Amino acid sequence: MASQDELKKQVGYKAVDDYVRSGMVVGLGTGSTAFFAVERVGQKLKSGELQDVVAIPTSVRTKEQAEALGIPLVTLDTHSRLDVAIDGADSVDPDGNLVKGGGGALFREKIVEKASDKFVVIVDQSKMCDALGPHFMLPIEILPFCHEHTMRCLEALPSMNGAKAVLRMGSSANNKCDGDEIAVSDNGCYLVDMKCTSPITDAVRLADDIIKVVGVVEHGLFCGMTDHVIIAGTDGIEVKD
Ligand code: 5RP
Repeated sequence: MASQDELKKQVGYKAVDDYVRSGMVVGLGTGSTAFFAVERVGQKLKSGELQDVVAIPTSVRTKEQAEALGIPLVTLDTHSRLDVAIDGADSVDPDGNLVKGGGGALFREKIVEKASDKFVVIVDQSKMCDALGPHFMLPIEILPFCHEHTMRCLEALPSMNGAKAVLRMGSSANNKCDGDEIAVSDNGCYLVDMKCTSPITDAVRLADDIIKVVGVVEHGLFCGMTDHVIIAGTDGIEVKD
């Protein structure tokens, strides 16, 4: 049986093989699945199979990986439209709405992926869920100033349905690591994970409510943005359009 890493590699490589062409401006996602898409872009540029591709990374980690592979990088300031962006996700619902930000890069991911003509999501089967919420905590990036107040405001939103706000700790912005220091994002902000015990029934409404809270920079609900989901499971790869 294929390991989790092999599944991630399969979807990462397939996304690049199917959707990236010479001359494109490409958004590079963040995380252990997106890692393989970045690797594939680097390989194909090196072999000459892809030419004149420029890329916009969604985190410092991805920028460093891309630089090491010799992928030419640009920014949204010079290139406001991308042809395609490829990224992982923490949860994917049946309509392709996502929870992202487990790796702490949700702001840069959202600004890049919103600017892309096509957004391709790459996941293994474990990320698929019936409803967003209980499947994976909802990450929100907030300003450090008065962060405890902002967290209380988030908890008080009726559409939050009683979810508790947990300040992310750790030496990096990755919520899988422990640590006794507050995790700081690439943007110098804090990350709060909302522990939802019930399904999010109206993700668009919740997204609207969260972004209105003063102190919130961005949230990990990516609604109506996905064009294709590439899912790796034990029975093979499935593409949902
Ligand atoms: C980073 C993200 C990642 O795409 C998400 O956390 C999935 O990561 P992985 O592929 O490592 O499971 O949103 O902010």
